Amino acid sequence: MKLMVIGGGGREHALAWRLSKSPRVQKVYVAPGNGGTATEPDLENVALDAVNDPDGLVRFLKDNEVAFTVVGPEAPLAAGLVDRLESEGLKVFGPRKAAAQLEASKDFAKQFMARYNIPTAGYQTFTDPAAACDYAKEQAERFPGLPIVIKADGLAAGKGVVVAASLEEAHQAIADMLTANKLGSAGSRVVIEDFLQGQEASFMVVCDGKSAFALATSQDHKRIGDGETGPNTGGMGAYSPAPVVTPKVYAQVMREVIRPVLKGMQAEGTPYKGFLYAGLMIQNEQAKVVEFNCRMGDPETQPIMMRMKGDLVGLLEAAINGRLEQAESLADSLWDVRPAVGVVLAAAHYPEAPQLGDSITGIPKDTADTKVFHAGTSLSEEGLVSSGGRVLCVTSLGGKLKEAQAAAYQAIGPIQFNGMQYRKDIAAKGMG
Ligand code: AMP
Ligand code: GLY
Repeated sequence: MKLMVIGGGGREHALAWRLSKSPRVQKVYVAPGNGGTATEPDLENVALDAVNDPDGLVRFLKDNEVAFTVVGPEAPLAAGLVDRLESEGLKVFGPRKAAAQLEASKDFAKQFMARYNIPTAGYQTFTDPAAACDYAKEQAERFPGLPIVIKADGLAAGKGVVVAASLEEAHQAIADMLTANKLGSAGSRVVIEDFLQGQEASFMVVCDGKSAFALATSQDHKRIGDGETGPNTGGMGAYSPAPVVTPKVYAQVMREVIRPVLKGMQAEGTPYKGFLYAGLMIQNEQAKVVEFNCRMGDPETQPIMMRMKGDLVGLLEAAINGRLEQAESLADSLWDVRPAVGVVLAAAHYPEAPQLGDSITGIPKDTADTKVFHAGTSLSEEGLVSSGGRVLCVTSLGGKLKEAQAAAYQAIGPIQFNGMQYRKDIAAKGMG
């Protein structure tokens, strides 16, 4: 069969690569793909823009008899790509537009969590800057010494959350979003949230509208600098599994988060099918939801796909056909017991203003235990060049987390591009 993956990041490279390992798969198209998916033997890039040219995509899927499509990023999901493909009779894995609101509107997600008693931070939503500033001031008085969390309601490509260390910073964030419109319509409503303390983890499941199948756990590293310093990024590296998700936390999240989401979405007439990502904050073995994403995490997908041994194609087919319960038997055999670590190599001046167009050299050949997933790369006449903020994600398996970490950093050794930056402490928090 032939499959299609929509997107062009590291997540999509990892998903398409893993799908292509199934003996039933002849080819995986990736639209638009990147410099890495361009050179994989069983992958083929297609220059299609799923958001702006869904007609072109529909034609391609029909002409090429694509068995099903997997949508990687949030933007096409929030734009209703799944609704469109389904209306054409095409099979697709991802939530419809109405269900993708869980990520596309923070206010929707907070109200939904309140309706179903899903544990999360307290909050209020504002459109009026003066009222928002008053509430921020109350928060500063109520929780002295703690940051104030300001979030744009809509999708803002990772720039919509400000964890403000002071009231001044909070007021600035409110002014940027509500008064100066710096994030456009995404920032025309803001959610102000209580600050949650603890350790973050990423909890992802495959959903078929009724049931969920949990994938391996992972932990991202959000800040640009070692020791979680500097500005937030899309994620500078990840490892799997995350020991902070103990069996007790796992059971709590399935019981208090994942199942209530499925039940609630079903009850509201918008059943959730697709990957669901619950970003968690865990303290004393109690998890609260920081955010939902309606897609896999990037870079979490890279170590998760590195560890996946079972048949991802069969799992996603079962989900598309609403028969996920039957996939539960896959669970034991699905994962390599060894941990995996993925280290992101980012462009100079990422995340503010990444420098693009630099030539990339020294990428080592894949081995059974190490793979370099591409993100912001493209193949030009001069060879491989950087074309995005996060350029590569070097991902390794190892017997112990420390060995996986050492293998990933060793594989980075020969890789070079101008201004390359990466964290030196990916996975260190999993060894504490
Ligand atoms: P989000 O896009 O909602 O995941 O937020 C981005 C990052 O901001 C999260 O991964 C956390 O590191 C941080 N963050 C968001 N909300 C909170 C919160 N309520 N308390 C503490 N940190 C938060
Ligand atoms: N790595 C975090 C995310 O994908 O949202």
